[in-house]
Amino acid sequence: MIPADDLFRTWFAAVESRQLSRLTFAEVRRGLQALSVLYVERPRGLAAGTALDGAGKRAAFALFYAPLHFLLVREIVRALGAAAPAPRLIADLGCGTGTAGAAWATEAAGGCQVSGVERSGWAVDEARWNYRLLGVRGRAIRGDIAKAVLPARRGAIVAAFTVNELDEEARRRLLERLLAAARRRARVLVIEPIARRPFPWWDAWTGAFLAAGGRADEWRFRVDLPDRLRLLDRAAGLDHRELTGRSLWLDAPSGGAPGRGGPAPAHQVP
Ligand SMILES: C[S@@+](CC[C@H](N)C(=O)[O-])C[C@H]1O[C@@H](n2cnc3c(N)ncnc32)[C@H](O)[C@@H]1O
Repeated sequence: MIPADDLFRTWFAAVESRQLSRLTFAEVRRGLQALSVLYVERPRGLAAGTALDGAGKRAAFALFYAPLHFLLVREIVRALGAAAPAPRLIADLGCGTGTAGAAWATEAAGGCQVSGVERSGWAVDEARWNYRLLGVRGRAIRGDIAKAVLPARRGAIVAAFTVNELDEEARRRLLERLLAAARRRARVLVIEPIARRPFPWWDAWTGAFLAAGGRADEWRFRVDLPDRLRLLDRAAGLDHRELTGRSLWLDAPSGGAPGRGGPAPAHQVP
């Protein structure tokens, strides 16, 4: 069981008072139910950007999914050893409220910077606020992933729960750009949920990452969530006592040609 630590709890308490000063618990719960239906049953609506289009869904994202993403990404980064050596810059594609890049940065020693790109103006403002509260040197800008500048050597790129929101053509172009960035020695981390329904592009991406010397993993972490998160989880009929996700990872080799990796077995951190 992974205990949520002081940094996480202090930050989460601030998020909680920010979001619950705007909406009631019941309104956030309804927003969470609407958001969950969208993610699980109507993923096509995501490409149209409907996930963050109402106050309830926004609050639910900021107060519920963003903290869960923070914890999940941080555990994946730890398990992959992705924060050492510390990247100089982490580009967070579709950063939402900023927690994926921030989670990675808080694991990295030194002055690692985060650069988030996000199409929702509301999420960009939340990301800036979260960077500040988490003590991360970060900047978030409103824009399209297609136009984001990707780092190279000593840089890193994370796309957490974002690639599935892109249309097919944007996804194809992004894969090419990520592989090119890895050849220029950037580290690349892609995270998505373990899907119950078919996720056709994931297999192709997995093949491309493995062929480039990367790895593919499935993760399962038991977490000790703060009370309000547990309450929301239960009230919305969800169950996140265990955080799960899958990742594709391309590490920058310290020298020479990229090494050949293979799929690692499903990984469980006790
Ligand atoms: C499910 S959220 C994940 C947010 C964040 N990465 C996290 O882990 O919490 C997906 C985000 O990608 C953003 N997004 C989707 N397509 C985008 C695009 N083409 N350009 C920029 N942002 C995009 C959405 O607005 C949304 O905030």
